Amino acid sequence: MRWPLLGAALLAASAGAQAVPRLPQAGAETRARAVLQGMTLDEKIGQVSMAHFFRFLEGRKSGPIAPGAGDIFAQLLPGATLNGGGDAPQPNTPRGWADALRGLETLGRQHLPGGVPAVFGTDAVHGVNNVPGATLYPHNLGLGAAFDPALTRELARATAADMRAMNMDWNFSPVADLGRDPRWGRFYETFGESPWLVADQITAAVTGLQSGGVAATLKHFVGYGSPGLGRDRANAEISMRALHELYLPPFRAGIRAGAMSVMANSGSVNGVPVHASQNILTDLLRGELGFKGLLVSDWNDIDRLVGTFKTHADLVTATAASVNAGIDLYMVPNDVEKYGAALKEAVKTGLVSQERLDEAALRMLTFKAELGLMDTRPAGSSVLADHRALAKRAAAATPTLLENDQALPLKKGRVLVTGPAMDSAATQLGGWSVNWQGVGKGNVGYVPKVSTIATALKASAPAGVTVSALPDGKREALLTAAAKADTIVVALGEAPAAESQADNPSLSLPAAQVQLLRDLMGTGKPVVLVLMAGRPILLPEELQNRLSALVMAYLPGSEGGAALANALYGRAGFPGRLPFTWPGNLGEVGLTADRPPEGAGDAPLPLYPLGFGLDYTAFRTADGRAEKMADGVKVSVTVINTGEKGGTGTLIVRASLPPAGNLEAAKRPVGVVRAELKRGEARTLSVTIPLERLEVFTGDAYGSVTGSVVPGQYAFEVGSESVQLSLP
Ligand code: GLC
Repeated sequence: MRWPLLGAALLAASAGAQAVPRLPQAGAETRARAVLQGMTLDEKIGQVSMAHFFRFLEGRKSGPIAPGAGDIFAQLLPGATLNGGGDAPQPNTPRGWADALRGLETLGRQHLPGGVPAVFGTDAVHGVNNVPGATLYPHNLGLGAAFDPALTRELARATAADMRAMNMDWNFSPVADLGRDPRWGRFYETFGESPWLVADQITAAVTGLQSGGVAATLKHFVGYGSPGLGRDRANAEISMRALHELYLPPFRAGIRAGAMSVMANSGSVNGVPVHASQNILTDLLRGELGFKGLLVSDWNDIDRLVGTFKTHADLVTATAASVNAGIDLYMVPNDVEKYGAALKEAVKTGLVSQERLDEAALRMLTFKAELGLMDTRPAGSSVLADHRALAKRAAAATPTLLENDQALPLKKGRVLVTGPAMDSAATQLGGWSVNWQGVGKGNVGYVPKVSTIATALKASAPAGVTVSALPDGKREALLTAAAKADTIVVALGEAPAAESQADNPSLSLPAAQVQLLRDLMGTGKPVVLVLMAGRPILLPEELQNRLSALVMAYLPGSEGGAALANALYGRAGFPGRLPFTWPGNLGEVGLTADRPPEGAGDAPLPLYPLGFGLDYTAFRTADGRAEKMADGVKVSVTVINTGEKGGTGTLIVRASLPPAGNLEAAKRPVGVVRAELKRGEARTLSVTIPLERLEVFTGDAYGSVTGSVVPGQYAFEVGSESVQLSLP
């Protein structure tokens, strides 16, 4: 089902976002076809190319629009433009962005075929992260821990509103890959390990973005999150069964939600670069999943077929392979001319048919018609809204308490705060913040204002608590202060990074941080470790076991400090639950909750399982039930808050399936029930599990697979409740 575009526009209007007139696809396609008919070969080739917007700025770098930008449009004829993950116009202000993009749109209307401007795409993956002054939200991994798709939708809608204010139309977001190997540098960009729990988040993100008038992009199709050795863009070996049971559900959900575009995986699957895989980009994406929108490449990935994968001899054959495999639009930031010449050669020699080129160009034009780019429209406000309250609410929904020997909440005495993450915007925001490699990287010096944990703990200390914050550089002075403290809060974390630069094969913190932790624990004082990281971190066992408290803060965004301080002081709880399995050692990397029984016997127990998290209260479950409904299985359970404080009960529903001849997860996560409950409150919560979530894909080792809901006895587990149900 395509997202009801008209509804989207009305919804967008009501949400205060810039209402973007969006046409139902048929109308959009009709208008696109009319433009296509009048286009030359060169214009069609330009239409399926995406150029870096620097090509149109002075000196082809960060600057104002170049005087000859109109002529450059007329020469390159790009269908789309983008900024690299750290590239900005000048002035690099919200107004500067809005004016530059509006200016490029106006020039596109004057110089491009049919007066249809190039559409601008960008990675606004946790707010409009390149624009100074933008509020930055928790990265997806923390939102995965919140298990709150409604919150994800709200954040996406707020992001869309800010994008529209900046005259941006297209977000290369959400990441629909799974986080199943924490060594991988993009683990934090995922919503977690579990296909169906991630699928619910993808539906929310797509709905939020597109109801706000911005095109969403499901990325990176498919299997990008399970690269060999956890190395970004390494080859992934994925069976047909794993493909259907694990990797397709989030993309299927996003397509059902009406995602207007999909971005291809830069890596390779089963020895085939995805950008040259007809199986993946056409048979699967179009044939099996029914995607009808725009398929965009990732960065320079047709060139990489020649230079990196070495699977194609030259750019012409690589272009033909990729375009014929299904790539509609090539993200070729710095050399559209070279691509244009290669594609022209491929069409002229028949390697790429005219029909295929027309199909790709039509999808590009239809995409833009759906976004309203075929009509003049009001300019964005050029003002970013203040979303700090939303960012704080989001940050408060994420932290996960993993250990607490009563050191928390901090109620009295002298608290010493230290550690490199106690007041670091760079660490707190993570990658894709100002620069794709994080604050302080690249050529933009802007440092976003953030609420840090040091400032927030000092500013909001309750009566009876005194807080001092000391940087960890002067170790002697720090340890002297530590000797006088009653509790030490140390904030540690990974340096910001993205993609392969964020790979962390040892799941470790920098040695200096481990030494700091060791020194602080050597004082004998209770140590509360707050981790700002994009993955599970492995600490030396002798340190891990002696922590008085351990908080996983993920990458909490602009308001992370204030939210964490509230949780550490007990004014709020720790609602986050792990959206992934936390391994106890490197040998357990890749261990997930849905690991099936296998010849090796029971899977090792992880350090912390999927869904784990402590809080200042406790919950129990009772009265579990499962009943067949028209659209699935309704699972109900009564959740009781048995503690002294209010809190959020989040429980994963796990299904045990009847034997079907193939290995299957002993307990497959298929849904979540979640509610904030006052102390002593009991509430019956329910969720309907669509039957497709119970499908198994059977078939022999090297055969094709067939999905079905196998007749037999099922069990549904929620908390301590387990209920049986036979299907059909
Ligand atoms: C990058 C990423 C992709 C991003 C694109 C544009 O290489 O793989 O996620 O959207 O390039 O920045």
